[in-house]
Amino acid sequence: MTADGIENNTLLNYNHRMLKIRFSGDRKAVRIMYIVLIAVYLILLGALFIYYTDLSHKTFEKRGSVMDLNDPGVSVEGTRSKEWREGPTAPFSKGMEYDFVITNPEKNEIYEWRTEIQFSSDFDIDSAWNGSYEKVDRTLVIVPDEVTSIVDPGKEKTFGLVMLADDEQAAGDYRLLYKINAKMTGAPLFWLLMVALVFTSATFLADELNYLRYESLRKKQEEISGILQESFETFAHIIDAKDPYTEGHSLRVAYYAKLIAAEMGYDEDEQERVYRIGMLHDIGKIGVTDLILQKPGKLDNDEYSLIQTHVDIGGEILKDFNGLKGISEGAKYHHERWDGKGYSSHLSGKNIPEITRIICVADSYDAMTSPRVYRGAMSGDFARQELIRCSGTQFDPEIVPIMVKLIDLGKVPVEL
Ligand SMILES: [Fe+2]
Repeated sequence: MTADGIENNTLLNYNHRMLKIRFSGDRKAVRIMYIVLIAVYLILLGALFIYYTDLSHKTFEKRGSVMDLNDPGVSVEGTRSKEWREGPTAPFSKGMEYDFVITNPEKNEIYEWRTEIQFSSDFDIDSAWNGSYEKVDRTLVIVPDEVTSIVDPGKEKTFGLVMLADDEQAAGDYRLLYKINAKMTGAPLFWLLMVALVFTSATFLADELNYLRYESLRKKQEEISGILQESFETFAHIIDAKDPYTEGHSLRVAYYAKLIAAEMGYDEDEQERVYRIGMLHDIGKIGVTDLILQKPGKLDNDEYSLIQTHVDIGGEILKDFNGLKGISEGAKYHHERWDGKGYSSHLSGKNIPEITRIICVADSYDAMTSPRVYRGAMSGDFARQELIRCSGTQFDPEIVPIMVKLIDLGKVPVEL
């Protein structure tokens, strides 16, 4: 069963409902989720930072042959570019010029490198460039100068020397020690974590701002809703004050109608709407003279006709009340009957708005169980029987069983 009309169909109310759904859960749990997520990203970034810092301080070692021109990775290659005979008085008989190149095909620069190159026989160093040299037996230890010591990614640096020896000399194996200046910003994982961190933080912030906005709106709405509720109740008291015997009638009818609506599956907003419509259903009595409303004894036909005008007066009073859909109909049609014999529009069956049919049952029950100026209160059992007896004639046969159920459960009647 559905409510006959959705009141909140504006975009503003739709947005408000969305916010309500979004923030109606456990806010603390949502906040913890965001904080944990951000903490995880920060921890991973920290771990990544430590890893790269360690990597930058680690010394790598590479071994190979300087004559191998296809040595993969960071490597040292060497060629003998010149060779000549020394004079008879020279300590060594031959002079040789060696050119070396250190290649860095990696993605990070290398620095603080040094290499040790083995030679096949004894030698001496005459001169060198782009580095300093030390001879230990047949091993040449080469330490680059300031310019040569850093090799950019994908680049190479050259160095060389003039060697003096007696025999044919051959440069052989080398051992290269170096460090990598590994940059964390070069790792895709770093950027992935940064994007995730920024996105999560921004979402968290936006969510918090929305939540604060929602909370402020909710408080304002509660305030307005409270004022509205009190206004409706005040109107209900004004209506009931027209006849001291009907004290509390409007509020009770509203309350019973709301209970019925809840049983019929109306959501909370719709139940509230039924409640408010119920409170003003008799507003038309304001336009009926007290002399008739408060007249003891039986009314004559003219007087009864005058009383009946309260439905049209009520409908007229509320006709421009557009903020609460169905309120005018609630006043105008609450004395219509299921069989069409009610007043004043003679609607029947489901042509009578559903909320009005609900109010009709609630109104009749309360009217029967309350004392009137012209009679005492009827018993609850009698009123219950009357509802059943008139189900399908005066009352909606689907609503009567619901009201009867509420009576049997002891939820109705109530003292308000
Ligand atoms: Fe009425």
